[in-house]
Amino acid sequence: MNQQYFPQGIAEEEFFCNREKERSLIKNSIASHEHLVLVAPRRYGKTSLIAKVLSENSFIGISIDLFFVLNQSEVNKVIAEGVSQLINKMLPKSTVVVRKIVNTLAELNPKISFNLLGNRVEINLKPYADKNISELLIMLDQFATKSKNRCVIAFDEFQQIGELKENHMIEASVRHAVERSKSITYIFCGSNRHLLNEMFSDKNRPLYHLCDLMVLNRIHAESYSIFLNHLATQKWGCSLTEEVVNEIINITECHPYYVNTLCRRLWRNEHPPKIENIVTIWENYIEQQSSWIISDFSRLTLVQRKLLSSLAISPTKEPYGQIFSTFAKISASTIQNTLQVLQKLDLIYQDHNDFYQVLDPAIKYFIRQHLL
Ligand SMILES: Nc1ncnc2c1ncn2[C@@H]1O[C@H](COP(=O)(O)OP(=O)(O)O)[C@@H](O)[C@H]1O
Ligand SMILES: [Mg+2]
Repeated sequence: MNQQYFPQGIAEEEFFCNREKERSLIKNSIASHEHLVLVAPRRYGKTSLIAKVLSENSFIGISIDLFFVLNQSEVNKVIAEGVSQLINKMLPKSTVVVRKIVNTLAELNPKISFNLLGNRVEINLKPYADKNISELLIMLDQFATKSKNRCVIAFDEFQQIGELKENHMIEASVRHAVERSKSITYIFCGSNRHLLNEMFSDKNRPLYHLCDLMVLNRIHAESYSIFLNHLATQKWGCSLTEEVVNEIINITECHPYYVNTLCRRLWRNEHPPKIENIVTIWENYIEQQSSWIISDFSRLTLVQRKLLSSLAISPTKEPYGQIFSTFAKISASTIQNTLQVLQKLDLIYQDHNDFYQVLDPAIKYFIRQHLL
């Protein structure tokens, strides 16, 4: 039972904290058929947010995860599976009607094959049409329009497409379908701001200026405070002390993944946590994670490590200023280049007060533990 309070995977229902503004923005985008790019570093809550918006508004939709695709045919495969699932969600109950719809679609789309299994359909691109993702998406749109449905396709970890050899062709194919869509709203989610930016803001790329960009930040401390107290009351019948809430928020820096990681452990106990428990549990966790932290760290160059460590110890608004440069023992021009690289790698970010910070609170804690 305890596990569900702070899930490792998608946060749902009452275990989903806030994001009111973002939920309403995405809902309005979908309602007005405006496609969207949703960007945030890994584990900020993109997948959870999309799932929440779809379920609370009863939108018909799916999330197609592109994280593991390695080539064009795998992209085709996951999209064909997603399209099949969506069509099945929209199918009327009557097998006769289904058969009729499918026959019409089959006539319209000779490159796509349909297998009827009872009143479910399975959809595949015929082998010779291997390169054509837009066929599938356009067919889905025709189907949705004919059956008077609206639906949502969220491409999750979409930046992976940019990494493939055939990226230009896939992007062009997606653009072709998105531009023609009447009943499907598309959401492109991704965790690499740099790659996604290149895909959607570079004039020479097919997806240039196709949709609005939405950046997902961390959840506000005040929202977390209310949320944590609500779940504490459920678990122990009382709120947490202000000090305890502040300690959880300070240690995790409101990073959704780490809030869940820490609190999942705290909520296993019979009694509400005290400050000492929080630090002990967090330090044990960091200890367990140290081998991947060290291995990530050792992949960086010496100057990158120096800058990351300096920012872990002393976050700054003025990384190019003399004070920070002297402290880090790196020249301002080197800081400038290195900072860009670390930002592209999502190792640092600018917080809401414009301070440059180490993005991952576990890495930051580890560095501080070893350097201070
Ligand atoms: N709004 C939220 N409320 C509570 N927990 C959340 C929220 N958003 C994300 N999480 C938690 O944060 C972690 C990462 O979420 P996920 O949706 O997988 O992020 P992403 O898709 O950006 O990588 C998960 O443990 C999830 O349960
Ligand atoms: Mg995700």
